[in-house]
Amino acid sequence: MTRTPIAAGNWKMNGDARLLQLFAAELTAPSSVKAVICPQAPLLSGTSDAVFAIGAQDCHQEAAGAYTGNLSASLLKSVGVSYVILGHSERREYHGESNALVKAKAEQALENGLTAIICVGETLEEREAGQAETVVLSQIAESLPKGATAANTVIAYEPVWAIGTGKVATPDDVKQMHGAIRAKLGGLLKNGADLSVLYGGSVKASNAEELFALDDVDGALVGGASLKVADFQPVIDALAAAKG
Ligand code: PGA
Repeated sequence: MTRTPIAAGNWKMNGDARLLQLFAAELTAPSSVKAVICPQAPLLSGTSDAVFAIGAQDCHQEAAGAYTGNLSASLLKSVGVSYVILGHSERREYHGESNALVKAKAEQALENGLTAIICVGETLEEREAGQAETVVLSQIAESLPKGATAANTVIAYEPVWAIGTGKVATPDDVKQMHGAIRAKLGGLLKNGADLSVLYGGSVKASNAEELFALDDVDGALVGGASLKVADFQPVIDALAAAKG
């Protein structure tokens, strides 16, 4: 199976209905590449004719119930969402999400037919202590849902120190980490090496080509540079040129 090239835009707590309409009108993506936009929750339905799929930024680990303010995976699916980002470092940090919780959320997502984008990544202290690979590989082992396959699970490697900082990991570091992640996935799952592994952390037009030239990088999870068509389009185009 060939790995799916994915360019996913994580809008975080940014963007509005007008911006999503603008993206629907202007963004282009060839069929060889999956473009995904992950807006804030009220915008998760109603863009079915766009060239991009819609992703949520979180879902709850339970099927339904008394969980004020949370979103169920089944509701997401019912309004046309196809992807859900889980375990983003901002969720891990500001909402105390553990690997076990991320795994439970991912299992709920899979049960409801969503594709889980599971985020992993080390902090600067962990990298400086030489722990980056150990941390990331154990996040993967502990966050990966039961039943994960290349069709329903994507990994996003996002070094925490590279998110929103303008600092990008060097191609050598990315290459090494993605290689280690792929080997780990291959050991954990049958056909695990077929999962798409995205890089995230200050990806933009000027560094996309270099990152996508790496064999084990199957796409990107993009924050800041996904908020304008003029910034996100070149990332999609670079992915299509490299992997499409
Ligand atoms: P950034 O965010 O591209 O703004 O660094 C990436 C992310 O948090 O997914």
